Amino acid sequence: MAGAAVTSLSALKSAYRTHGWCEPPYRFSGEAVELIRDRVLAMSRERRPEVVHEQDSGIARAIHGCHAFDEVCAALVRLPYLVALAEEFLGGPAYAYQFKVNLKQAHEGAAWPWHQDFAFWHEEDGMPRPDAVNIAISLDDVHEGNGPLMAIPGSHRLGLLDLPEGRAENGAESDWRTHVSADLAYTVNGHRAESLIREKGRKLFLGPQGSLQVFHPSVVHSSTNNPSPDRRALLLITYNAVDNAPAHPTRPAFLVSRDTTPVVSRADERLGLVAV
Ligand code: SIN
Ligand code: MN
Repeated sequence: MAGAAVTSLSALKSAYRTHGWCEPPYRFSGEAVELIRDRVLAMSRERRPEVVHEQDSGIARAIHGCHAFDEVCAALVRLPYLVALAEEFLGGPAYAYQFKVNLKQAHEGAAWPWHQDFAFWHEEDGMPRPDAVNIAISLDDVHEGNGPLMAIPGSHRLGLLDLPEGRAENGAESDWRTHVSADLAYTVNGHRAESLIREKGRKLFLGPQGSLQVFHPSVVHSSTNNPSPDRRALLLITYNAVDNAPAHPTRPAFLVSRDTTPVVSRADERLGLVAV
């Protein structure tokens, strides 16, 4: 890691608690991003259940659970700075609950409607509390035109919004494909999102490739289609507190890791961070 840390972990945690997101003062080096992008491209061409395609065009939309089958992704999960962020924010040992890359391909990448991740994890997996944290790594330059991730500051303190009625009573599980497609099972009503934005504003996660952002499982977020010629691949690692593991998950292991062993930090010189 080059350069001095300009924002301490505790200052980042305080911003995260207030807004539901924060931006660490580092980004991945060009070499690190190139290495990860190469692996992502290779994985996206594989025919395996972890690779999900867009409904309309059939091009790769996302790759799930990569840390279980790709050595570079496994190394990423163990990086000391990411583990330190997760442990600081969760207040104790953490394990990798989910790992995914949303590819948002040029011209073809479809939207993610307004939603809260914890709705899926609580309703489908039985995660007890929103004591998990998303760390997002941009694998491409992100600008306003290529479908950036957007979040509504402070919305993580509103609890779960607009859950469909009746599901808890009949105990039905939805098809996991509706948790990873543009047609999501648990969404926040668009009118509600608009009114929340009028009240609280909107944060766009923009920046050069390698940028890091952290966001809360209950923060209301979305992203639009990508009509631009620029891909917007976003890698997301979700760490969960070890004492917050779902008791009886049923979704595939590439969406809900069954291995709740705390992550042990290990430096990897290929995956360098630079101060921003
Ligand atoms: C996106 O890739 O834009 C959406 C990410 C998410 O909903 O977690
Ligand atoms: Mn999400």
